[in-house]
Amino acid sequence: MNRGTSGRNLIIEFWQTTKSQSLWSLAIVVCMGLLCGCSRAQPVSINKPPVPANKKVLIVYLSRTSNTKAVAQFIRQKVGGTLVALELKTPYPVDYQATVAQVARENETGYLPPLKTKIDRIEGYDTVFVGFPTWGMQLPPPMKSFLRQYNLKGKTVIPFNTNAGYGEGNSFETVKKLCPQSTVLEGFVTRGGIERDGHLLVIKEARAKAVEKEVDNWLEKINMLK
Ligand SMILES: Cc1cc2nc3c(=O)[nH]c(=O)nc-3n(C[C@H](O)[C@H](O)[C@H](O)COP(=O)(O)O)c2cc1C
Repeated sequence: MNRGTSGRNLIIEFWQTTKSQSLWSLAIVVCMGLLCGCSRAQPVSINKPPVPANKKVLIVYLSRTSNTKAVAQFIRQKVGGTLVALELKTPYPVDYQATVAQVARENETGYLPPLKTKIDRIEGYDTVFVGFPTWGMQLPPPMKSFLRQYNLKGKTVIPFNTNAGYGEGNSFETVKKLCPQSTVLEGFVTRGGIERDGHLLVIKEARAKAVEKEVDNWLEKINMLK
């Protein structure tokens, strides 16, 4: 090998070594870039699910002396949705004791009073609040009629109740039984009137403010505030 040839070979060898090193370096840089790109932390949403902004809400309530209606109206103000009062084809007597006696008979026999109220396209609602007073420590027959008549399968059902101070009785349990394929959330209970003693609408003035706060706290707890 003469000097000219060996010099050229050296240059070629140097160039090839340099070229393969450059290619390796390039490959490493590209891989690292890709890895960094892939593993770059994405912003993680820690917000609660947007309930009920994109949900369609129905609020159905039964109320004789407007205490449950007052709670229904607070829910409507805070959550939005359609507010519907349950009415019967044949209303209960005005007399309190006569109503108590009729309700006791209906509860004994399982009679479901026919509803005058009709709800259009109930299938379009995702969330259904159901409000009622305690009657005979039970779910009032008209609310039983509603839950039997309308299929709330797949929906979120949220009960709320007012009573004379004896609590909701077994009414929430009955809601669960009548909505076996719904998700029934924690209900709301507060003291309402005592019609027996002539105390009709008591959720007004200062008491209304206090109940509004209770409703707020409950809605926040069950993640229903806008
Ligand atoms: C027929 C009837 C039965 C009632 N039974 C009970 C009862 O068992 N326990 C109770 O705490 N209150 C009972 N109450 C009182 C109501 O639950 C209470 O006054 C409630 O706040 C009324 O709601 P409203 O104003 O929405 O009608 C009864 C009321 C009526 C009319």
